[in-house]
Amino acid sequence: MVRTILFSAIFICNILISGNVSDFFGPGFDVSKLKVVDCITTPKSFISFVTDNKKQILIIKQDRSPSCSAQFKVIREMLASYLASVNNIKAHNTTILPGKFEFPGKVYKERPATVHKVVPGYPMYKLCNWPSKALQQECKSHHSKRQDGLQDTIIYYMSLHPDLPAIIALDTFIGNVDRSITNLFYDDQKDRFFAIDMEKSFKKNLCEIACAIIKNKLCNNEAMITLQELYGLTIYRNTLQGLIEHNSIRHLHVLLEKFTRQAKLTGFSQQNNRQPGRVRKLASKLTQYIQMYKRTIWASYKSAEKLVILLDQFIKQQTLKIHEKLFLHYHDDPITLTSEFGGNQMGTSHTICPTC
Ligand SMILES: Nc1ncnc2c1ncn2[C@@H]1O[C@H](COP(=O)(O)OP(=O)(O)O)[C@@H](O)[C@H]1O
Ligand SMILES: [Mg+2]
Repeated sequence: MVRTILFSAIFICNILISGNVSDFFGPGFDVSKLKVVDCITTPKSFISFVTDNKKQILIIKQDRSPSCSAQFKVIREMLASYLASVNNIKAHNTTILPGKFEFPGKVYKERPATVHKVVPGYPMYKLCNWPSKALQQECKSHHSKRQDGLQDTIIYYMSLHPDLPAIIALDTFIGNVDRSITNLFYDDQKDRFFAIDMEKSFKKNLCEIACAIIKNKLCNNEAMITLQELYGLTIYRNTLQGLIEHNSIRHLHVLLEKFTRQAKLTGFSQQNNRQPGRVRKLASKLTQYIQMYKRTIWASYKSAEKLVILLDQFIKQQTLKIHEKLFLHYHDDPITLTSEFGGNQMGTSHTICPTC
């Protein structure tokens, strides 16, 4: 009994220090009632499934590597999911479990981890036969054969449901290169999509790549998208605009620093633990990483502002082209027009089921 009270008291102290953790778990949360019900190991992470006294399932995620960059994933995941939640983009809710802090399902006590609420539904790879990278804005080296960024396939697939362009716009804004369909859930009861796994964010400027792609399309007279894609791109553009308006660069930098403090990153490798000057080295490495992410945030933000302007021009250009096509079709064959542009278009009749 005394042990339980002591454990809960230490937990409450920790959550007070780390700020928003208490909001995350909600009232009446009792850490001593948590039970680990399952564990999986992915190539990079330990994932533990934990239930609480209200039978709510929580997921504890911790990187297997002790390196600084691996521990920084906690901060990137937190910042990404925080931005999703304050901008009403469907994604998992996350909070940080700091380093040197014991928590059921957290494998390495001394290193930080993240805790997530389970999103409803199933991962998309179980529901449909979309290509695994249908929505992934990769950013490979120039030698790679795969094309980078906001490619035509992504513009097509994200137009299939109104939740998707918002999630993809967030990915572009934060430079998340890992939106494979394993990291996307679909809840068929409520017809909603949810993003998970955003730790590979803030390392690449995907907005700059998207700018180059849209610029190219603007100069290409042949470029023509469908009405459905136009609708998807409009949601994508509006989400980006919202992200810019609600989050200044300064604000993003402050959040990055805040979550870094919360994470309490610890010694990066076991061998280093007893080396003299370790604390100084650690501090300077942390500063380097923070500076690197701040630079990417700054560059992505500036490119996002340009991207919104380019998207405006492209949406206007494509609207005109679609009107022209509509007009020609109307004169040619009004019946074809009904089947091509009526029904089954996002926003007009109903969303398209991803299980098809
Ligand atoms: N919030 C969540 N809701 C439901 N399942 C989740 C959630 N987070 C993780 N998972 C499950 O755990 C798996 C691994 O999590 P993920 O964050 O993708 O780790 P990794 O970076 O190792 O791919 C996911 O594919 C999913 O099945
Ligand atoms: Mg994953």
